[in-house]
Amino acid sequence: MADRPQFRIPETIKEDTKKYEQEVERFLNGNLDPVRFKGYRVPMGVYGQRGQTEGAEKYMIRVRAPGGVITKEQLEVLNDLSREYGAEYLHFTTRQDIQIHQVNMEDTPQILYKLLEVGLSPRGGGGNTVRNIMNSPRAGVNPQEKFDTTPYSLALTEYLIRTRSSFNLPRKYKIAFSSTAQDKGLATINDLGFIAKEKDGRQGFKVYAAGGMGNDPEIALLLEEFIAADKVFHVAEAIKRFFDDYGDRSNKHQARLRFVRKRLGDEEFVAKYKKYLKEVLEEGIDTEEIYYYQEPRSGAKDRKQNLEVDYIYPEAKPGYYSVELRPPEGDITYQELEELLSLLSSEQISLRTTNKQGLLIRGVKAENLDDLIAEIKGVNEQLLVPNVATMPIACKGASTCRLGLCLSPNLAEAVRDQLSQLDKKLQSLLPQIYISGCPNCCGQHLIGKIGFEGKAKRFDDRLVPHYSLLVGGNVAEDESRYGEKVIDLPAKRIPDFLVELAQQLSEKADYTGDFNAYLAQGGREEVVKVAKQFTEIPSYEQNSNIYQDWGSNEDFSLAGRGPGECGTGVMDIIELDIDTANDNYQTGRQENDDEELYQAIVNAARALLIVRGIDTEKDRVILSSFKSEFIDKDLVDKSKADLLDAAFDYKLGDIDSLVDYQQEIKELIQRVEELFNSLNSKLEFDLDELDQQNEDNDKAGSQNDAETKLADLRGVKCPMNFVKAKVAISPLEAGEVLEIYLDPGEPIQNVPQSLAEEGHEILEQEQTEEGYYILTVKKGK
Ligand code: HEM
Ligand code: SF4
Repeated sequence: MADRPQFRIPETIKEDTKKYEQEVERFLNGNLDPVRFKGYRVPMGVYGQRGQTEGAEKYMIRVRAPGGVITKEQLEVLNDLSREYGAEYLHFTTRQDIQIHQVNMEDTPQILYKLLEVGLSPRGGGGNTVRNIMNSPRAGVNPQEKFDTTPYSLALTEYLIRTRSSFNLPRKYKIAFSSTAQDKGLATINDLGFIAKEKDGRQGFKVYAAGGMGNDPEIALLLEEFIAADKVFHVAEAIKRFFDDYGDRSNKHQARLRFVRKRLGDEEFVAKYKKYLKEVLEEGIDTEEIYYYQEPRSGAKDRKQNLEVDYIYPEAKPGYYSVELRPPEGDITYQELEELLSLLSSEQISLRTTNKQGLLIRGVKAENLDDLIAEIKGVNEQLLVPNVATMPIACKGASTCRLGLCLSPNLAEAVRDQLSQLDKKLQSLLPQIYISGCPNCCGQHLIGKIGFEGKAKRFDDRLVPHYSLLVGGNVAEDESRYGEKVIDLPAKRIPDFLVELAQQLSEKADYTGDFNAYLAQGGREEVVKVAKQFTEIPSYEQNSNIYQDWGSNEDFSLAGRGPGECGTGVMDIIELDIDTANDNYQTGRQENDDEELYQAIVNAARALLIVRGIDTEKDRVILSSFKSEFIDKDLVDKSKADLLDAAFDYKLGDIDSLVDYQQEIKELIQRVEELFNSLNSKLEFDLDELDQQNEDNDKAGSQNDAETKLADLRGVKCPMNFVKAKVAISPLEAGEVLEIYLDPGEPIQNVPQSLAEEGHEILEQEQTEEGYYILTVKKGK
């Protein structure tokens, strides 16, 4: 194996880890509020976990494994850390990361330091950063590949993570490499993807960009038919700069690269990219030599194996095999992993995380294969199920994820239990199943030939956990497509549906096992017909079980769920305006630039208007609304009214200069920051001095809006729709009902949960024929 680490952690990340430690201390001492602290911890790969008691919150650490490369020693350390500080299990993710769960905040710096000692870091595991770079898990040993893409995924990681700007992008930047046209690394659905090619004897890549799942999913666009292999750095740098300049930082829901593509159109997108690439090529990039390591393979006897199971893959070097472990839902306990690692003593063996929540053991000699398999089964039989269909991919779902609707891992377990009782032949007829607990797609249901997306549906005035069934997803070079939603099924009836589907497939003489080909030849209608047999909802009295989710004995509800995301989005936007106002002020002051000073006033005045549900680009409206909402209501000193008048006058040309108002501008920005700092998670100002005034203001608000019983928020984007919904609901008496019209997509995904989290009751959520939703909300106490 390598005589140096597969990838090197740069000094900057070590410094960032020290800085993170200081921020943790400030947070724990109460000197840093949770919202701002989140801005440090998430890009550090430290996430909050759902369902914790207040004051004893637990966290998850997502450690990147670039290219899926991980050594036995690193896994041992991760495993030990999970035992010492976490919940004694590791989670393998769908992006080849490894997560330690349920750790206390005060332990996180220590964990990060211990990871650094073995060349690992979670930096960039979350936030608006270059995320873990994916790679086909079989790259380097796959007989079908042109060449091994692993060195490129590692070298590109090294290159990108050594610059701080990679951790402050408009949104996530996800990159993937595939070593064959089967695109097992998912290059065709990432922000940037590379598929290995050879042209005239030279190694290189076909390049794709601006794809991605989540809201408004897109298959990536073909960017380059062929680039020489050493140009991956230039392409990745060009796309990074392009994204940095064009990504919409003001709206996180439309900030990913695919939205830049949507705004510009494909042609313009490619043209702009070419300009950035030219710039980068001219500048040149100081790339370190790519480090090629060779996995040792020698002296195996080429013995033919019984390969009827689908977890064994022959390697390029005769006599060697790879074995794919599929731990249920990607979780492996301390004990299991310890035992497993003790089995892997051979020099030849190397490990990769897969992007299917598992681990690939490579370099197993033919003569050792049977023994190793028997021993792994001794650790846990479920690590090696013979048919991938019985091992669904599932996101973490509502038990740990704040956005979750359904308990997706529990459905995965139920599917597994039921399918594994079928005859092996029947099992093998179904493709692998992908499950997400909500439309966000962390369980990658869009790429499943069969996928399920969690949702809530109302029956009998109660909620029933459901999943939309998607069929026909596929990933392969130039053949990638997302699945199509065909029908909704109650969560509880999905395993029975799958069993029935397997039965029906087994009765088709011409079924080849290619599920998508079957769909294309009339199978889609047949699948829907089978599914229809499982849609019926009995009344609650007849069967209350269907009103509960898998693994829960409580009636399904949205209460307590919800993102808090909307609130966070609002905070991001305010922060952006305040930062801009500060920049304007500094430039205006240093350069006596009146226009900059004017912009400082406008941006400071705009920052907090969002909390009042006002979103406008018109300076006149911004200045007058700030006056009526903040100065007239005594949240900002009356003397600042003169400053706003001066800004009006300046804009109208009545006065020439704002230079004399510098001190006033500085104070205005400071006051706005003060108010921002006092905002609580319900978006209320929480300063002692304000208590009385806020009460008065609330009353004033009720008089103004007392008639409002309907809020039409169609066309209003997240998170402004959430704020407007709050503004509309605030004057109502507890128990009164408000109807809210919302657009599909992000609005309907986020707003209901956020309102439920604030104590309001969602009575109904109906989609109209026109496509928008009517949400009926009862005001809480
Ligand atoms: C706050 C709750 C959320 C949690 C706990 C969560 C968790 C995860 C996890 C653990 C993964 C595996 C990926 C990795 O290693 O990086 C993942 C992937 C993913 N997440 Fe989330 N996520 C959340 C919110 C969201 C949202 C809001 C979206 C979209 C709008 C989203 C879209 C995705 C997608 C598309 C993937 C697939 C991975 C890929 O890019 O290939 N997630 N998520
Ligand atoms: S798909 Fe939804 S439920 Fe699942 S982890 Fe992502 S946000 Fe949470």
